[in-house]
Amino acid sequence: MKFFADTAEIAAIQELAATGLLDGVTTNPSLIAKSGRDFKEVTKEICAIVDGPVSAEVVALDHETMMKEAEVLRKIADNVCIKVPLTIDGLKTCKKLTGDGTMVNVTLCFSATQALLAAKAGATFVSPFVGRHDDNGFDGMQLIGDIKLIYENYGFKTEILVASVRHGIHVLQAAQIGADVMTAPPSVIKGLFKHVLTEKGIEGFLADWAKTGQSI
Ligand code: G3P
Repeated sequence: MKFFADTAEIAAIQELAATGLLDGVTTNPSLIAKSGRDFKEVTKEICAIVDGPVSAEVVALDHETMMKEAEVLRKIADNVCIKVPLTIDGLKTCKKLTGDGTMVNVTLCFSATQALLAAKAGATFVSPFVGRHDDNGFDGMQLIGDIKLIYENYGFKTEILVASVRHGIHVLQAAQIGADVMTAPPSVIKGLFKHVLTEKGIEGFLADWAKTGQSI
């Protein structure tokens, strides 16, 4: 499963990229606002840090303006992936852009039938929001399983990008289902490295090593 960081914070992206385990980045208008940075400038910087796809989202609601915005965004770098909302105009834009060889991430997916539409529109990635689904009394991971089944039934190439990930259990379940990608805030990704028994184990080994008086 590929790991994307769901953030527009440069320092956090650099820190995760240094582990060699970061496969891409996703941003959205809320994350850009949170960064306080210029959209194009920060997207360019992110694209220079990671080799993989960097999702940059259009904000227009109509197809023509989405295409104009996508044109601006895809000029930023070769690894920009245009993010469009799961609407009729968003999917029209997806179909057009992927037909031209541009990567597209269809976002704000909340049902398996919406994901079916995204795949039919040729989406590179579909982003079902598991956390927001759970928050509203639905089962986010059931949605991932349903999308996986439908995509396998028809051999769709669209990658399932599990988004709105809130904790390690979401990551575990996404991997168990066989999702292609998960995107999570840097704090969640960093949390995956940790286990109390790992820390306790290191502490014990180092205490015993000190008793030997040796060095490596
Ligand atoms: O970037 C899309 C998605 O991951 C947002 O997550 O936490 O705002 O529901 P969240």
